[in-house]
Amino acid sequence: MSLPSSDAPALAGNAALAARDLRHVWHPCTQMHDHESIPMVPIVRGEGAWLIDADGRRYLDGVSSWWTNLFGHANPRLAAALADQAQRLEHVIFAGFTHEPAIELAEELVRITPPGLDRVFFADNGSAAVEVALKMSFHYWLNRGHGEKTRFIALTGSYHGETLGALSVSDVALYRKTYAPLLLTPILAPSPDAYEGEPGETPAQVAARRLVALRALLERHAHETCAVIVEPLVQCAGGMRMYHPDYLAGLRRLCDEFEVHFIADEIAVGFGRTGTLFACEQAAVAPDFMCLSKGLTGGTLPLSAVLTTEAVYAAFYAEYSAGKAFLHSHSYTGNPLACRVALETLAIFRDEPVLERNRALAGHLAQRLVPLRDHRHVADVRQTGMIAAVELVADKCSRTPWPAAERRGMRVYLHGLQHGALLRPLGNVVYFMPPYVVTTGEIDHLVDVAVAGIERAVA
Ligand SMILES: Cc1ncc(COP(=O)(O)O)c(C=O)c1O
Repeated sequence: MSLPSSDAPALAGNAALAARDLRHVWHPCTQMHDHESIPMVPIVRGEGAWLIDADGRRYLDGVSSWWTNLFGHANPRLAAALADQAQRLEHVIFAGFTHEPAIELAEELVRITPPGLDRVFFADNGSAAVEVALKMSFHYWLNRGHGEKTRFIALTGSYHGETLGALSVSDVALYRKTYAPLLLTPILAPSPDAYEGEPGETPAQVAARRLVALRALLERHAHETCAVIVEPLVQCAGGMRMYHPDYLAGLRRLCDEFEVHFIADEIAVGFGRTGTLFACEQAAVAPDFMCLSKGLTGGTLPLSAVLTTEAVYAAFYAEYSAGKAFLHSHSYTGNPLACRVALETLAIFRDEPVLERNRALAGHLAQRLVPLRDHRHVADVRQTGMIAAVELVADKCSRTPWPAAERRGMRVYLHGLQHGALLRPLGNVVYFMPPYVVTTGEIDHLVDVAVAGIERAVA
């Protein structure tokens, strides 16, 4: 196994590139002042699960670069597909015009997603896909004569993106609080998050109890509700909180009973992350809308897709004069480069035993995390497929969290940077979401660095 070592340094080193960056670039999800003390890391190259900086230092990408990367950085198959497509057609307006990569990708997505999702609308990032699903659901009900349906039900602790519509149905205070005056008001249903269960309650019991609460909300609000939107099985940005598949099965039944849509946001959990190709499969449910992005292109280019049913499509299909067409467009809708890379990503799933390999890797990761369960500052170690999370707390018995201002998770991150691992915790939750090409030796490296980082962080 290759531990961090030095490659030949690039011409401009870390310090020079970081200084240039900080003169003009404004980074996402960042208090830029932090970079007076926290290093900005200029990456010049990727290789499998590793990122290599301008000084030749290597970092194992434990977070798949914001959960996008599946098959390694600079993956030769994806790079070749991209180069080939770039020489033929880089982009074309997607209204009135089409192209084979988009047609074939739509066909493939319909084939591999749960039954009934037969219509595909492309967008170019996860938040945009959520905007599309929300607008399409609202507009469906409007076209069907139910303009009174204007609201959405979301789960506590949910995250669906940061454009205003997507942020409206998100409930992570860090992202939402400041912009709350600009947002729609969702109806919040209590999350089935197993960590928040009563003492002794199983995840399935938490799910059942939370379905009772959802039913009560629907009894009161279904008449004004377009859809319930959830992140199936894992609420990722909300702290990798996990729940039992029964909740999804119950949600499907309730949505049918109360005539509201079920939107499955599989942007983070789709494409094998949770152990099945799509998380909804574990509950054997098909939603009315499924949002996909991130892993869709293996982490190479921004692209997203919203899949929906023939019934939804039919509600928009009418003479032009009826004014029922769906109104949403992005300049780069259905970009051929991104579609072609997405097709190659799906081809890798067909050609290689990805899910089987992931099961073995996930098993190894689980085994390596067992000792952390007894750590005096760890309240929970949880895992769903290739997502594992460690909840750090100030007090194990009462599960009292560390004050956010102490930034304990950030200390783990800094330790990781010094020791060849990119671990970017969510607050006090240290998590592992590596690319699927990671080896067991590399998982050992990630866990070893994390364990040492946790020791430093809680000292
Ligand atoms: C579940 C979920 N939905 C939506 C988004 C937003 O995607 P994007 O960052 O591409 O806008 C994210 C991003 O992390 C996500 O995890």
